Amino acid sequence: MLCPSERKYKWEEKEIFEKMIGEIWMNDLEKLKDDWLKKLSFDILLTRNCNYRCKHCLMNNFKGEMSLVSFKETIDQLCEMDVNEINLSGGEIFLHPNIKEIFNYLKLKNIEFGFVTNGSMFNENIIELIKQSNCRFSISLDGPEEFQINFRNYKEAFSNVINAVELCTKNKVEFGIISSYVKENLQHIDWLINFCIKNKIKYYRLQPVFAEGAAVKLEDNKELLSEKELDHLYKRHVELSGLYVGRLILRGLGKFKSEIIQHSCKFGVNFGSSCHSNSLPYPHTIGITPEGDVFPLYPYLLNSNWKINNIKNGIYKSLDEYYNSESHIKLLDLHRTVFENEIVKKDIVYVDYGRLIIERMNHN
Ligand SMILES: C[S@@+](CC[C@H](N)C(=O)[O-])C[C@H]1O[C@@H](n2cnc3c(N)ncnc32)[C@H](O)[C@@H]1O
Ligand code: SF4
Repeated sequence: MLCPSERKYKWEEKEIFEKMIGEIWMNDLEKLKDDWLKKLSFDILLTRNCNYRCKHCLMNNFKGEMSLVSFKETIDQLCEMDVNEINLSGGEIFLHPNIKEIFNYLKLKNIEFGFVTNGSMFNENIIELIKQSNCRFSISLDGPEEFQINFRNYKEAFSNVINAVELCTKNKVEFGIISSYVKENLQHIDWLINFCIKNKIKYYRLQPVFAEGAAVKLEDNKELLSEKELDHLYKRHVELSGLYVGRLILRGLGKFKSEIIQHSCKFGVNFGSSCHSNSLPYPHTIGITPEGDVFPLYPYLLNSNWKINNIKNGIYKSLDEYYNSESHIKLLDLHRTVFENEIVKKDIVYVDYGRLIIERMNHN
């Protein structure tokens, strides 16, 4: 049977493509394009600016923020598309000089969005902005006072969180807590869970620190979690999820290998046929930098080789052209190779799949 879209490919590309999708025909990928374009999440890097210099921060560069004009242009374009989720990223988003206008614009457009904050800028005005918008957010807290101050490299890093938590509680604003784990704070997981329970916080996300930006130094000093410690973190995660069911929702950025293998279609590894017919190809998130550059996955983590296009050329149009292009096929191929060689074949229990792919993308 001849594939209708075969003509579009050079022979070498077809070979890469066939290796990647195995038994699935190219036209299966074509058929999924419209669904893929409707199910994407967007991560908009509002600003790289931050008042902290945390020891684990993944950012390499703290300069650059999106202009209000570009932000509105981005949002206008996303409003024309069916979008799964929008997140605002930083840096510290509340340091953006136009944050009020940004929140107001999202409200005007009736857009639900998410963000993570260090909590340092919280005051009555910020709470008012949050209350008036349709947002969900998490505050970063990585351990008790002494650890938080040292890890975040900032004297008020703990009191700022306490202030933000108190303001939210007083104003009945719901939020979550997010913690990044290294060797030193692994011992604080129960303290962090108790902090959530005590403050009636219902959502907790934990994630291991990965070696990007300042955290490369932590890796060199062997301060990041070993595989055994990762294993411990996720076993404790499962135990605590069971213990606090109904009171606290626990989420981890990583996944158990068994889950990834069992539900590989959910991760976009298998797609388009038989039992995978409801799944979509990778990537599921698209990042936009302050300069308007569009990237697969997170805008602060990838090198420029992976750039798709710029918002000036139209987000939808750029993604439409990107899908099934040589660059997309390269990404899908890498995705599948990582799945087969680094997950299926390796003797591991836990995997931060997104992080693994980003590492490989940057080193390919
Ligand atoms: C990049 S920060 C931006 C938001 C805000 N500045 C903050 O720290 O909450 C988003 C989240 O990523 C976490 N993070 C930063 N560097 C990380 C790394 N190398 N590995 C894993 N998580 C990291 C932060 O602790 C924070 O919870
Ligand atoms: S982790 Fe967040 S608060 Fe810390 S330096 Fe990075 S962007 Fe700033």
